[in-house]
Amino acid sequence: MQTDKPLSGQAAMVTGAASGIGRACALLLAQRGATVGLVDRDADGLEILESELRANGALTVIRPADVSNPEAIADAVSELAQALTGLEIAINAAGIEGSLGPLAELEDDALEAPFAVNVRGVFLAMKHEIRAMRKSGGGAIVNMCSIYGVNGQPRFGLYAATKHAVAGLTKTAALENAAAGVRINAVAPGPIATPLLERATGGDPERVVRNIPMRRLGQPEEVARAALWLASSEAGFVTGHLLSVDGGMIAQAANTPD
Ligand SMILES: NC(=O)c1ccc[n+]([C@@H]2O[C@H](COP(=O)([O-])OP(=O)(O)OC[C@H]3O[C@@H](n4cnc5c(N)ncnc54)[C@H](O)[C@@H]3O)[C@@H](O)[C@H]2O)c1
Repeated sequence: MQTDKPLSGQAAMVTGAASGIGRACALLLAQRGATVGLVDRDADGLEILESELRANGALTVIRPADVSNPEAIADAVSELAQALTGLEIAINAAGIEGSLGPLAELEDDALEAPFAVNVRGVFLAMKHEIRAMRKSGGGAIVNMCSIYGVNGQPRFGLYAATKHAVAGLTKTAALENAAAGVRINAVAPGPIATPLLERATGGDPERVVRNIPMRRLGQPEEVARAALWLASSEAGFVTGHLLSVDGGMIAQAANTPD
């Protein structure tokens, strides 16, 4: 039987929930009936989202934390799993673009910040989510990768390195936990209209549209719907998969505008 609350009774958490794609995932999880734990280093943004969700009757717990800090993310996941009485779904969306520019011109330490958030943050979050899910008898994790986790792009070398690492972590963790009932997948979004893209394009996100076969930016809700499909029982035999949500970008060998 179809229901408009297919995730009713499920405990879910989202990192990077205060903005963009993570925020859209949190809203959709709540709309579909899940109880949601929200993690972000932006405590004010979390409070705004919490009020919005509660006003719509959703059950929500917030936990401000920096995902790159080992103690902070360990505490956040265990406190959320306790508050939500288990953990069945986790979406790891916290991420930063880091320094952009030709590799030959970047500072020596430019890799540290994007690696700390995008790679260590995903590793640490997954480590604790997997432990909590194994206690709950299984679950599903979805990481935010990128089209730059599959291909390179001038000026995005360090970001691409972190997203290739996310793809590797996702596939390995999927294999390690497949028999234990924890499915682990990733979404590879193309350019999505969020504050990150605004920053990465110097305030002019529309200028990348000519590179996108569908000739438009994606919306955070479109990524959230794909992530929630991967997290749902509809994707029950899917693990270790990288699902592109990119208006056709990964499919094209070269940009051939009309
Ligand atoms: N927007 C795009 O075009 C695009 C494309 C591909 C992949 N992605 C990925 O999707 C994810 C979400 O990106 P977005 O576009 O929604 O960005 P965004 O900047 O709108 O949101 C990112 C959120 O992560 C939080 N965050 C950053 N560092 C953190 C940390 N150390 N600890 C906790 N929270 C932290 C921020 O506070 C923010 O709320 C990222 O992993 C990004 O790399 C985005």
